[in-house]
Amino acid sequence: NVSVKSLYQSQTHDQEVEISLTGWLKTLRSSKKISFLELNDGSFLKNVQVIALKNLENYDEITKMPINTTVKVTGHVVDTPDAKQPFEVKATSVTVEGQSDSDYPLQKKSHSFEYLRSIAHLRPRTNTFYSVFKIRSLASFAIHQFFQEHNFVYVNTPIITSSDTEGAGEMFRVTTLDMNNLPKNDQGKVDDSEDFFKKPASLTVSGQLNGEAFALAFQNIYTFGPAFRAENSHTARHASEFWMVEPEMAFADLDANIEVAEAMLKYVVNYLLDHAKEELEFLNENIDETLLERLKTTSEEPFARVTYTAAIDLLQQADADFKYPVSWGIDLQTEHERYLSEKVFNRPVFVTDYPKDLKAFYMRANEDGKTVAAVDMLVPGIGELIGGSQREERYDVLEEKIKDFGLDSTEYEWYLELRKYGETMHSGFGVGFERLLMYVTGMENIRDVIPFPRTPGNAEF
Ligand code: 4AD
Ligand code: MG
Repeated sequence: NVSVKSLYQSQTHDQEVEISLTGWLKTLRSSKKISFLELNDGSFLKNVQVIALKNLENYDEITKMPINTTVKVTGHVVDTPDAKQPFEVKATSVTVEGQSDSDYPLQKKSHSFEYLRSIAHLRPRTNTFYSVFKIRSLASFAIHQFFQEHNFVYVNTPIITSSDTEGAGEMFRVTTLDMNNLPKNDQGKVDDSEDFFKKPASLTVSGQLNGEAFALAFQNIYTFGPAFRAENSHTARHASEFWMVEPEMAFADLDANIEVAEAMLKYVVNYLLDHAKEELEFLNENIDETLLERLKTTSEEPFARVTYTAAIDLLQQADADFKYPVSWGIDLQTEHERYLSEKVFNRPVFVTDYPKDLKAFYMRANEDGKTVAAVDMLVPGIGELIGGSQREERYDVLEEKIKDFGLDSTEYEWYLELRKYGETMHSGFGVGFERLLMYVTGMENIRDVIPFPRTPGNAEF
């Protein structure tokens, strides 16, 4: 068997050679004498056109094949330089390998994304989702390649954890306790010693704290794994289960952190421009006509940079009708983030030095006493794509912060020890992998870049 991809990759084809290929029937046009079949075998976005003539012994059967029948074709590849497709296959035999029902839901007409979500098990068979999930795979590889080429060590941080890194209390509990019959202690509280881990455990919201431990041994590390957040946000950019990339670098300040973030996004974009040409062109034509232009800008132009305080000024001067009023101290809303990246800068922008009350306990306090060395990368069409910071490396300051945030200090003893044994400047950031995919595919809903999305009220498939 040859693959459709290999047929597209060879410049010319030898008509004398007989080839076979197996694929799924995507379209069929038949007349009494001739049938045109388009087959896709999954190796490539594009289909191969097969010509079947009436002299084939099962010609009648061929003309009646329902869409998505599994078909094996033997024949000869003929170059057709003047036609829309560069070549076609003249069949010497067409065998039905597996029937499809005639009520196959993905007939040629296009469907709404909402409907396609209800058939998430079938939607990878559409051109759009084929492209999206091919890009998901390639982007994942590019991220590993970027960090590996720069000598970052890949660390697998735990999925089950007892620390709430972001301190937002949005954790999914993991427990072996019987919820209908919870064991209680003398004070009437749930007796955690009866639980599997003998203490409350949850699914991780971020691997950062564990990542820091490894950065302080390997210098540069990254994690790439699932994160879980029980935030009840019904938006197009929040999922309950998503993937996060978290590099962490010793001896790096906020500027170095920003440089790595920019280089990483540019690397991934360039990798996709080189390796996902057909998919990006398809998406540019059918989903978002600004996609290729945006990727080009991302690849070629330096990203913008502004402090939170300057960003607030820009937003206050903006000629825009924000739903959420702007003043120093507010958390930037998606509308503000998009205004900055789309209207003010029209490219990715780093916003730095946020008010300390808006950000997590581990961020390094700035000299002004009001802000922390935080950075978010905001991008057009999405808003926040990356969140990161320089970490608080000073033992006393960090210990105080943990108290101020009302965190259980016994849970953070090991984290404080990272400062006790070698106080080291370090920084890192977290990339929402699905948001990155929205940026590089033009898809507008996070549910459409995750193979089987998990969002509030939805754990189907
Ligand atoms: O800004 P966040 O919460 O930062 C952290 O978790 C840090 N520990 C990262 C670090 O410094 N190592 O999350 C990082 C990114 C966000 O910018 C966003 O892109 C994505 O993760 N993200 C989500 N993506 C999808 N659904 C959600 N519910 C998300 N929450 C965060
Ligand atoms: Mg954030």
